Amino acid sequence: MATRKKEPRSKFYELVQQQVRNEFGAAQQYLALAVWLDNEDLPELAKRLYRQSVEERNHALALVQYLMDTDHPVEIPGTGEIRNDFSDVSDLIELALEQEREVAADVKALAKAARAEDDYQGEQFIQWFIKEQTEEISQMTTLLNVVKRAGGNLFDVENFLVRRPGPTGADPTMPPVAGGAL
Ligand SMILES: [Fe+2]
Ligand SMILES: [Fe+2]
Repeated sequence: MATRKKEPRSKFYELVQQQVRNEFGAAQQYLALAVWLDNEDLPELAKRLYRQSVEERNHALALVQYLMDTDHPVEIPGTGEIRNDFSDVSDLIELALEQEREVAADVKALAKAARAEDDYQGEQFIQWFIKEQTEEISQMTTLLNVVKRAGGNLFDVENFLVRRPGPTGADPTMPPVAGGAL
């Protein structure tokens, strides 16, 4: 393998590498949520969160692609602790929403670092993630409201998801994903 001298990492690129871990962590946590729901015989809710897990994986690999494209070092990290125990569905969706809020804060820190370092390329790259977090927080907030309003009747939640399956298909504005988006 040819060894190339890599660019030293700025703060922005350190945060991009950390964000790869955050996004893989989100993917793994969504997978735990999806399996819990699947096990409770809630196939539509499970399907939504299995899909969300794949999206987070795609986000991680879009960051990986960016590190490769800009000739920076890149590592595939492990993830932290994953929660698998929930008292009920709203507890579970609350965790998902909390996770999206944390990722939104991480993305904001990335945008701030890019701007502080006059990294216009990095700032432009991260714009897509800002928009994505707005959408994901909005969708998860809707889902939490639907779950709460159903007041324990999870058939209503499942029916809602059949009628409103959520975003499907690739987002053409998404940055390129290492290995191709799934
Ligand atoms: Fe994400
Ligand atoms: Fe997300």
